[in-house]
Amino acid sequence: MKKILAFAGSNHAQSINHQLVKFTASLLTDYEVMVLDTRRWQIPMYSIDLDPDQTPDKISELIKLIKDHDGFILSSPEHNGGTPAFLKNIIDWLSRREQKVFDNKPLFLMSTSPGKGGGANNLKFLIHSLPYQGANVAGSYSLPSWNENFKDGGIIGTKLGELNESLDEFKAAIKG
Ligand SMILES: Cc1cc2nc3c(=O)[nH]c(=O)nc-3n(C[C@H](O)[C@H](O)[C@H](O)COP(=O)(O)O)c2cc1C
Repeated sequence: MKKILAFAGSNHAQSINHQLVKFTASLLTDYEVMVLDTRRWQIPMYSIDLDPDQTPDKISELIKLIKDHDGFILSSPEHNGGTPAFLKNIIDWLSRREQKVFDNKPLFLMSTSPGKGGGANNLKFLIHSLPYQGANVAGSYSLPSWNENFKDGGIIGTKLGELNESLDEFKAAIKG
């Protein structure tokens, strides 16, 4: 069974992106999915002065997990039209340890927000930038208006069908 690592780029205790990742993982019944909870992670801000001697433990753990999985789901919030500092910091640390950490494995990128944009600006940026980290971006999905579209632990209405359609690209890529 293929192994998928799913996580959100958020350190918000009530993270809606984490909730979206958990729900998406529940749809992938034919896979071994590990939902990684990053919400309490404390990672020092990347600095060339800390590099290379002081790799945060969470970054080393994440690299091991990435190597041990066949594909990835990452859902990111959008902060001020861009990538939240929390996630950008993780990406910067990863890039200094392993430039192509994702090793050409499939990555499904997601975003959600309470607003109508659904974090799509940042999603577009991540689709462009994460291939520099070796990600084979295979599908993406943005869920706008979180409070209207997500109820009782799941996506409601037409947006659910859209997610399943977008996941088909990821499933085809992970099959290899
Ligand atoms: C500093 C900050 C900036 C934000 N900027 C945006 C934004 O540009 N676009 C957007 O859709 N939501 C924005 N939001 C609202 C977030 O979408 C909302 O806080 C959401 O819960 C973040 O996802 P999370 O709960 O998974 O961390 C911002 C929130 C914060 C705290």
